[in-house]
Formats: sequence, C-alpha cells, structure tokens
Amino acid sequence: MRLAAAGAAVVLLLPEDGLPEVLHWGAHIGDSPEDLEDLERATRPVLATNGVDHGVRVALLPESWTGWTGTPGLSGHRAGASWSPRFRPTRIDVDEHEQGGSVVVQAHDTAAGLRLGLELELLPSGLLRLRGRVTNVGARPYTLDGLRLALPVPTKADEILDLAGRWAKERVPQRAPFVVGSHVREGRHGRTGADAATVLVAGEPGFGFESGETWGVHVAFSGNHVVSAERTFDGRRLLLGGELLLPGEVELAPEESYTGPWIYASHADGLDALAARFHDHLRARPRHPRSPRPVVMNVWEAVYFHHDLDRLKELADLAAEVGVERFVLDDGWFGGRRDDATGLGDWAVSEEVWGDGRFTELVRHVKGLGMEFGLWFEPEMVNPDSDLARRHPEWILQVEGRLPVEARHQQVLDLSHPGAYEHVLSSVVAVVREHGVDFVKWDHNRDLVDAGSTRTGRAGVHEQTLAAYRLIDEIRARCPGLEIESCSSGGARVDLEILERTDRVWASDCIDAHERQQIQRWTAQLLPPELVGSHVGADRAHTTGRRLDLSFRAATAVFGHFGIEWDLSEAGEGERAELAGWVDYYKQARHLVHTGRVVRRSLEGGDLWLHGAVSPDRTEALYGLTLRERHVTWPAGRVRLPGLDPDATYLVRPSGPAVVRGDDPRTAPPGGRTDCG
Ligand code: DGJ
Repeated sequence: MRLAAAGAAVVLLLPEDGLPEVLHWGAHIGDSPEDLEDLERATRPVLATNGVDHGVRVALLPESWTGWTGTPGLSGHRAGASWSPRFRPTRIDVDEHEQGGSVVVQAHDTAAGLRLGLELELLPSGLLRLRGRVTNVGARPYTLDGLRLALPVPTKADEILDLAGRWAKERVPQRAPFVVGSHVREGRHGRTGADAATVLVAGEPGFGFESGETWGVHVAFSGNHVVSAERTFDGRRLLLGGELLLPGEVELAPEESYTGPWIYASHADGLDALAARFHDHLRARPRHPRSPRPVVMNVWEAVYFHHDLDRLKELADLAAEVGVERFVLDDGWFGGRRDDATGLGDWAVSEEVWGDGRFTELVRHVKGLGMEFGLWFEPEMVNPDSDLARRHPEWILQVEGRLPVEARHQQVLDLSHPGAYEHVLSSVVAVVREHGVDFVKWDHNRDLVDAGSTRTGRAGVHEQTLAAYRLIDEIRARCPGLEIESCSSGGARVDLEILERTDRVWASDCIDAHERQQIQRWTAQLLPPELVGSHVGADRAHTTGRRLDLSFRAATAVFGHFGIEWDLSEAGEGERAELAGWVDYYKQARHLVHTGRVVRRSLEGGDLWLHGAVSPDRTEALYGLTLRERHVTWPAGRVRLPGLDPDATYLVRPSGPAVVRGDDPRTAPPGGRTDCG
C-alpha cells in the first residue's frame, strides 16, 4: 500500500506472515496496481552468494531470524531466552488521507511472549514518522536492550552528512562517504547533546542546499539516543534510529510496554527542501507559536550573578527604550545562588538579594514598561550545596555507593521520585503564578553521568527524560499562556520532542555573530527561524573575544527569534539608537522571516554564505549575504537569489534600518529593477 503527501510517498509491503517492509520512501510515485506490482518486483530481494537460501527482506523492524546479519531492530531477552523474536502480524489498520495517512501494525511472537506495535505516519508536510512499542506478554520480566526502526535508502545515496559540535559551537556539519559498515552516532549525554547528529542525511554524492536527492532522519528524543547509517555486504543501505538504553534500564514486567521515540524522516531534492518538510510540519502544529515573536532582552551576559534591583531596573529602562518586548532575568535570583556552586533546587526568591519586595518591584517595573517578564529555571538540577540536596540526598541520580562526578558543581535531581517531581512542580508553578511570569528559560546544564535512581537501583535516563516531559506538560497545563525556552548549556537540547512542549530553543551560548551564522544555518536543518533564539551580544563577544560591528551582529539575529544579550548601559547613545533601528527593523521583518521558506547557499567555494526567507506566495523575500572569509577574487561573483518565482519580476534593494528610515545615502535603495529568472 502507498501513502503520499506533498510530493513524497512511502510504499509498504504488508505481508501476512511478516512485519511491514518499506519498498519505497522518496519522491511521489503512482499507486495503480501495476505501479505497485512493478515496484514490488523491482525491490524483491535477490539471493546473496553464500547467504541464506531465500531473499532476505528487511522490515521496518529488521529481524535476525530472516537471515539479516545487520543491526536487528529489537534486542532484549528474558533471562537469556526469547532473544531472537519472529513477529507475525495480528492486525493492520490503514488510515489513508488525501495528504498522507497512517499504518498501524500489531504483531506478536507467542513463543517469545512479546507483542509489537509499529506505527508509521506520513504527515501532510510529506514528513514521515515512525515509532515502535513492545509489550511483554510473557510470565516473567523481559529486559529490553534496544528498539530501532529502519528505513531503506537507495544505492545512489552514497554520501552522508550529519552534525557534530560542542558547547558554544553547536551543529557543525560533517560529511563522509557511505561506506560498508555502520556510521553510528550515539548520544550518551542523557540530554540531546551539543554534538547530536540532529538530522542524519544520506544523499546523492555532492548534494547541497539546492539539489541532490536526500533522505534524512531525526530521532525525537531528549535523552540517550542513536542514529546510524548502515551499509551491508549485500548492498543494502539503511537509516536507523531509536533510544539508546543503558544496561538493564528498561525491564518490562508482565503486561508492561515500552514505546520508543518518534523517528522523523524527510526526503527531498536538496537540503533546503529536506528542512522545509520539518518546518512545514512544525508550523502546522496547533500550538506552534503564532503571535509575533517578541524582542527579548536576556540579562545573563550583562550581569551574570550580580543581581541588584537598581541595576536591573536601569537595564529594563534601556531595554524598553530600544523597543524590547520581553525582559528575562537569568540565573541567580533564587535561594543562595550567588554563583554556580550553590542553591540550585531551592526555587524560592532569594531573601538576601531580592527580599523586602524587591523582586516584586522589578517585575512591576518591567511590566509597567510594557514588557513581558521572563525568568530562568534549571528544574532538573541540584547543587549539593543547597537546602534541597541536604534534605533529600536520595533524590540525586546516582549509582550505589557513590555520587556522580560533579559538572558545574551540580547533580541531577531524580524526577522519577514523586517527591522530587512534586517539589519542582509546585515551586515552579508557585513562582510563575505569584509573579505573573510570562516566559521561562528552562535550562539543563550538565550531562547525566552514572544516572541511576535510588528508587529502582537501575539506570534512570529513560525515566528521567519522560518525567521531564511530564513535568513541562504539567507546568504548562497549570500556567496557561506561559512560554518556555529549551536551553541546555546553550543548544544541547534541540530536538522535536522537547519542541512539542517548548516555544523556542536557545541555539548556543556563543553569541558571536560570525559563529552564529554557522550555528543558525545548521539549526535550520531541523527548525524554522521563529523557534531559534538569536541575540545581539556585546561588541566583543564574551565566548570568543571577537569584535564585530553592531550591524553584522543585528543582521545575524534578525534571521531568528531576535533578542539582546548585552549590557546596554555600556553601549553608547549612538549604539543604542542604532540598535533601536534594528529592533524596529526586526519588528517589520519578523512576519516574513517567521513564515517564509528558508533558503541557504554556499557560494564562492564556501567563502560567501547566503541565507534568506522567501514568503510562501513568493512575492517578497529577505536575504542575508555574509562574507565568511576574505575571498581570493574581489568583487565576488554575482549572486543568484534563490527561491523566487522565475516568471516574476522583483525589485531588489538593500535592506536594513538605515534603508527603512531612508536616511543613509550609502545604503539608500538604488531603485533598480532586476530580473530574477
Ligand atoms: C547556561 C545558559 O546557556 C546560559 O544562557 C545561562 O542561562 C547560564 N546557563 C546560566 O547559568
């Protein structure tokens, strides 16, 4: 059977005695009986010399009993038994729409005492997603080691690309040939990770933003996960993904089930079109942020831990003057948190710094200036030097007999303890409600190492991740209208499952605009710009020491969810006026940037970068052109503006605050007309 949407199609073989197999995932194809028969014939497995005596079919969940010697989809056992299941379908539900649809297959292996559910959905954006669920129907516990789902890609997908990175340098692309063996990207940080693959792409050699057939997968999970590209001796190529389970982490009691994360898969011609399917899907969600994304002022780099009412009121005044719409108080407002070694977990306004009504006064002041008030939390964490850790040392994730090594002087609070969960839930909700907090910057600043639960004695990353999701969901339910940002030492929690419950990500702690060009360009492989916080930092970037003009810093931030992270009391009056011009400019441009189609190009051997947003009806577009490196020739070659309607004629002019005000003769519109055919 075939599902099709937005130029993409998936064809499944649904055998009576085996699991579903993807015969085609890619461009649109017809679904006449002849088409499907031809496809089935063309994809029939051939006998591999010295292989098993029948053609091996590789299902959505590959099984070893078939003779498949690549990675199996399900791994686990029941005290050493039931380790090689053979599932047979018991029920198949197909729900086909004009745009996409879904297939749900139930299967079982009675001998192994396992039930399996496989769900595949082609979304209206043409994005495919799949997930699996395994249930223990045996009489004894079943230890699950892993559940991975696989999608085939054709032989022409001969090159792979995914992302790497580290703190303050997230989402760095890396390419490799698709050689025999497995290219495996494991995330073992207990969070999505600054080095997460994000989207693992296989494509035609030389594929780029504009062209080259590509297939990409993303594992939507904020805990340990794995994604891989596997090419086997018999010429098959698969993209696989799933959660990465720690030893003994998931043991299913009789009748207990495990559901794996959604694996999202996008096929398109070129990386821009591949990204567009993710963007379209996200933008179509009922709770995708629809209000104009407010200009943010976050005070982290302005004051760090030095909180002082007068100073922050002054910053709020300056913020309002330049047109800020949301003022965010970062780390340091609660408990004994005067530096990063103390107080995490004690989520009550600090008496020492913010007592005697000073906190309320700040919030009133901010709101009185017409801005929303945002506040930083790191709900899943605890400093050993905190009242919470002293009261409940058993709520810290740990292994028997020792505490994990500290990271940023902190440990992880085990949210699977009902008491710990309740403590965080009630404290966050109380602060949000009491002070009318509009926005929470939700941080998560360390990896989960030795993350065992004292409740079960087992590895606890899986439970912790699900508990964090529940916690955010419940906070949102209790605080309607609250917006939440996913921050994790900058951009270490960027995935589609955290985005089901948050409104934007903080892409990186690196606000250096030169670096940000790269970080934003590749974060866009998954997320549209309105979900990516992008701030104008100080002229000398705190993380790199690089000095950059305000115009470059601001023009970079305009292509995201714009904000400011700069001590404006240090900026000169002229700079503040210039910044105000950019804030105005962003307010005019945000609708286009936040609804437009993202286009990216790498020109002049990669020295010249172009990115832009083209309105859905292609009547207007905004482009940023960045000379990342000084080029060997000058001027560089002419730039073709991508994404436009070849039959239309466009007026092309420089854009920016000076142009908007029309008072800068150097950048005034030339008024020329340019054909962009
Ligand atoms: C890490 C975040 O990425 C920063 O923006 C800031 O909020 C600090 N944590 C505060 O501790």
